[in-house]
Order: sequence, then structure tokens, then C-alpha cells
Amino acid sequence: MIVLGIETSCDDTGIALYDGTNSLVLANLVNNQSAQHAQYGGIVPEIAARDHAAKIGPLLYEALKQSNTNLLDIQGIAYTARPGLVGALIVGAAFGQGLAYALKLPIIDIHHLEGHLLSVFLNTNEVPYFPYIALIVSGGHTQLTIVHSYGQYELLGQSLDDAAGEAFDKTAKILGLGYPGGPAIEQEALLGHPFFNLPSPLMHKKTFNFSFSGLKSAVFRAWDSVTHKNKEMRCNMAYDVQEIIINILVKRSIQAVQKTGIKRLCIVGGVSANKRLRTLFQQAASMHDIQVFFPPLEYCMDNGAMIALAGYHRLLNNERCQTFDFLINAKQSLYSSKE
Ligand code: KG4
Ligand code: ZN
Repeated sequence: MIVLGIETSCDDTGIALYDGTNSLVLANLVNNQSAQHAQYGGIVPEIAARDHAAKIGPLLYEALKQSNTNLLDIQGIAYTARPGLVGALIVGAAFGQGLAYALKLPIIDIHHLEGHLLSVFLNTNEVPYFPYIALIVSGGHTQLTIVHSYGQYELLGQSLDDAAGEAFDKTAKILGLGYPGGPAIEQEALLGHPFFNLPSPLMHKKTFNFSFSGLKSAVFRAWDSVTHKNKEMRCNMAYDVQEIIINILVKRSIQAVQKTGIKRLCIVGGVSANKRLRTLFQQAASMHDIQVFFPPLEYCMDNGAMIALAGYHRLLNNERCQTFDFLINAKQSLYSSKE
């Protein structure tokens, strides 16, 4: 079954064609809007929605061309329905539902985080088996979850305030490194050394929750007190922030593995692209005899393939988008009464 995956929850327009039967991504195209938002220091919802609307059609055209398929090869549609920027989500929902209606295809609405949770299956090498512990580290979420099976998720803990990606983004903003902050911080950190004394919030508590907003305030105060705000100091701050965030994530994840006895750990979401994070997780995993998995880099950030994969399993389970069923039924009854 070939499923079209549509992702428009934030600032990435993602379109993918996924062959679920053969676990194969036929095309995965992402248009990232960060250059358009950079001058505002964060995402502008109106700009995001307009750009999704402009790019989504051409991206589908390109995906079909690249995979040497046509619209009639698509057998199901999956789109990100929540959570996200409402105007941005509506673009993907309307596009997907319109297409499903025209092509008479089954369609399913997907929770964005389910896409991230399952993104490890987009790996062509080694994939985990159920159950596994997933750490989602993205711009909007930091969550520890047990993935029991497709569609069966148990939340262990989450950030009580800012997400890990947000901590990267806000630190980058304070340091004048622009948006998105994660890759910029990672780059600067390569030249940095331990210098600042930053706090590890909540780490003294026995919980699977996280808190990163205190760290942001600490960075702000520490940076404010620096007299010579030069490249060297910026790199040191990037280094210290990156180390502290990653160490918190590693420590909590290992605790979750130890508490549950599930020795498979998957790190997913935009921040999992960070190389230092991957190294420290791998080190901790080998120390504690745990298997650690990451999605390939192109599937860490928001993309349509992870939505198509999640959708494939739900469609296979005969699940359908309720709103669309309602539309179909309404239309059928309208026509049948005229005939
Ligand atoms: O999963 P994602 O693409 O979108 C959301 O669902 O939020 O994650 C975006 C987040 C941003 O906060 C970005 O700064 C962060 O992922 N990020 C990184 C790196 N690449 C992206 N953080 C740290 N290091 C990176 N290399
Ligand atoms: Zn995401």
C-alpha cells in the first residue's frame, strides 16, 4: 500500500510517498521555511501557513516525479492533524482531504508526535522491536514514552515548561545566533570549553519530568554578566548549554530504562540530529548494556515520511479520519436523495 504523508504542523512542508508493504520511502521532500522566519527570531504563524499553501502542490508533483509514480498509485493519505499552528495544520488537512475526496481514497488524521515516535522504523538498517522507550526531543516537546506497539503509547514524563529544542533556540537567540538555534549551538560548541556554571533543574527529583525554563533564565543572566561578549565566550556558552541539556536527557532516559526494564531506547525529533547527543547517548547505552536507536538524519526533523508510516499502520487497522467520513456520508446522502 502506497501512502501519501503530509506534514504542515510548523515550519516544514513535508510530502512523502511511503510504500508500507515493503517498508520503503519512495520520496521524501521537505521545504524548510526557517530563512523566512529568521528575521523575526521565531516562527510567524501567518507566514508559515501561506508558505505551506504555496509549496504543498509543487512538492507533491515533485515527489511523484522523483518516485516515478502518479496520483493513481496512491492508496491512502495521512496528514498531521495536531498539535501545531492551526493555520498551518489546516493547509495540510484541506489539501489531504480534497485529494482523498477527488481520488476516493481512505484518509487518516495523525498526531504529529506519533510520527516522531515511529520515525525509527524509517531506518533501513537496524530497527527496534516493541516495547521500546522513546525520548522525543523537538522544538515543542520533550517526552519520555513507552511505545508498546503501533498506536499504544504510555507517557512516562515530559517537560513541565520549555522543550529541549526550545532551550537550544532561546539560548541561540540570547547569543545572537539566529533561528533555528540547535544547529548553530552545535556548531559553536565545537570550539567551546567548560566555563559557565549552569543549573540542572529538577534533576534532584525522582520523576521522569523535565524543566528547561530555569536554564534559559540562567543563560540570560550569565551572558548578561559577561563583559567581553566575543566569539570565544559565545562558544563556551554554547558548549556548556549543550552539555547540560544532553546530560539531563541522557540521565532521565537511563532512569526510565532502569525503572521499566525495557532495554531499547529510541531518541527522536529535531534535537536527535545533534552529533554530541548521539555520542553521549551511545556511550551511556554501552555502559548500561542498552540498545540505542536514532532515525536517519533526514527523519529527525519534521517530515512527511514519518506521518505516512504512522498513517499506513492505522489505515491497515481500518482506522479512518472521522471528519472525512462525515463529509463522504453527507455527500452520498445528498446525491442519493436526488437520484
Ligand atoms: O522535530 P522538529 O523538526 O520540529 C518540532 O516538531 O518541533 O524539531 C525542531 C527543533 C528545533 O528546536 C531545533 O533547534 C532543534 O530541533 N534542532 C537541533 C539540531 N537540529 C535541530 N537541536 C540541537 N542540535 C541540532 N543539531
Ligand atoms: Zn516535530
